[in-house]
Amino acid sequence: MFITLEGPEGSGKTSHIPPLVAFLREQGYRVFPTREPGGTAIGEQIREVIHDLKNAEMHPRTETLLYQAARAQIVEQTIKPRLALGEIILSDRYFDSTIAYQGYGHGQPLEEVRQLVQYATGGLTPALTLLLDLDVETGLERKSRQKEWNRLDAYTVDFHKRVRAGYLTLAAEEPARWQVINAAQAWDAVQGDLRRLVLARLQGQPA
Ligand code: TMP
Repeated sequence: MFITLEGPEGSGKTSHIPPLVAFLREQGYRVFPTREPGGTAIGEQIREVIHDLKNAEMHPRTETLLYQAARAQIVEQTIKPRLALGEIILSDRYFDSTIAYQGYGHGQPLEEVRQLVQYATGGLTPALTLLLDLDVETGLERKSRQKEWNRLDAYTVDFHKRVRAGYLTLAAEEPARWQVINAAQAWDAVQGDLRRLVLARLQGQPA
């Protein structure tokens, strides 16, 4: 099963994945974590280019295409082969990040962005997408404390507000695939929600 985690800056996705993977493995599931952009040797090189603060002149279309290049590689090299072996892929971001950031955030035409995403992924869609939802000010504040600032974090607060609203729109449009988690809760409560929702889906129960 293919499961993705999404969320705006500072929503804590990355800190939740290792304990979630460990928990699922204890339950006997074969889980493989991935992240985007990156997750392959080629993808990690593309990530450097996208995130480098020096590349301030990068056009949104260039940015959009670089994300798709990294994604095409990880889909073919890692995700599809492992899904075919019956593993669970848990990805830190996937194509919904492109729709939220490049589509809603940068205002790139949504239909064109969706076509690019379709080309990059060959249409591979997650069975479950978990959105760690958080207000923009709290998220950026958390992120600046972690000193992981990248080129995208430096976009305006309005950009990040459009991203958050975009995510909530996507979740509302496809409620069977999305689950929204309140990431403003204490860390343990967020982790508890993640475990419960993933287990429910793996066991075939409605969440
Ligand atoms: P992260 O490692 O903090 O998740 O950073 C990834 C950054 O890349 C984050 O700012 C979101 C952005 N991003 C996009 O804009 N589009 C995409 O398709 C992906 C995968 C990430």
